[in-house]
Amino acid sequence: MKKSTVLVCGGAGYIGSHTSVELVNAGYGVVIADNFSNSEMAAVEGVRRITGVDVPFVEVDCCDREAFRKVFEQYEFDSVIHFAASKAVGESVQKPMLYYRNNLTSLMNIIDLMREFGRRNIVFSSSCTVYGEPDKQPVTEQTPRKPATSPYGNTKQISEDMLRDSVAAYDGLKSIALRYFNPIGAHPSALIGELPRGVPQNLVPYITQTAAGIRECLSVFGDDYPTPDGSCIRDYIDVVDLAKAHVAAISRMVENKSEERYEIFNIGTGRGVSVLELVHKFEEVNHLKLNYKIAPRRAGDIVAIWADPSRANQVLGWKAERSLDETLAAAWAWEKHVRGIK
Ligand code: UFG
Repeated sequence: MKKSTVLVCGGAGYIGSHTSVELVNAGYGVVIADNFSNSEMAAVEGVRRITGVDVPFVEVDCCDREAFRKVFEQYEFDSVIHFAASKAVGESVQKPMLYYRNNLTSLMNIIDLMREFGRRNIVFSSSCTVYGEPDKQPVTEQTPRKPATSPYGNTKQISEDMLRDSVAAYDGLKSIALRYFNPIGAHPSALIGELPRGVPQNLVPYITQTAAGIRECLSVFGDDYPTPDGSCIRDYIDVVDLAKAHVAAISRMVENKSEERYEIFNIGTGRGVSVLELVHKFEEVNHLKLNYKIAPRRAGDIVAIWADPSRANQVLGWKAERSLDETLAAAWAWEKHVRGIK
């Protein structure tokens, strides 16, 4: 029997498509909503091929409240996962109003419509960016948030606060915010993965595109940071593991496993990896040489951050399982699939 149904807003995107697969695999019904602002129908088709289920899809902008209302009228679901947001830190500095409008209007519409239609549970995609440059590693959920350093980061903080306040004010609403560390990799089938438009801003897509010959040379932004090899440290989390964290969050709410109505979890591996370590690991795992050079530091980068994921491990019953080797092999397999490389 099918468990309850989840509306996945932004389900054609990178994390949304992987999460849709894991939800279906876990027995949940899924409805995908997306406006293709940074995604393609191919991802929905990938989800359908991997799962063998004809997952319903609606093309809609979650910021268009009247159009979005029709999705609530048409489909029965208890829960919503909100991935439908813009995510490029640099772009958010150039176009702050685009970020505030997209990221906050979509969440406000979701909360309002959930109340109007009596839908209960929402999982929100937050980010370790809310911690800024932490004073102590690894960061726990109690580590204080720092003032946001980009409009993008600010939308994540405001959204968390909006959910906390809405849950406090409106009975019947429950929420879990997942603070992602750095999601990387792709589905092992190589049917879905990350598909950045234009020049990739993030490390792993830049690496895979360099390996594929689309970019000439990877710039490693800074080797003079106060870290063992001088490059920045992050907590890289496999996207399939990350997707499974959403299933755990949904089941926690659907099955009423908690008295708490608003909860926050760090979703990371607990392992810090430097940029240079990641580059060398990618070369080793995939048996290739990457053209890279040391370049100046990138403005706005923090030196190091990695998660203490114990709360998610213990309370959510979720743990990162895939090795960095598997993840980097999957990232390369996906890039090869997209580019038609044998
Ligand atoms: N990097 C390079 N060269 C590149 C791209 C990135 O050296 O071409 C380095 C960056 O300087 C950084 C590391 O690789 O040290 C990771 O950079 P990403 O851009 O992949 O990721 P960030 O940690 O900067 O950003 C990610 C998410 C954001 C989120 C942030 C929170 O993309 O959405 O983590 O810290 F806000």
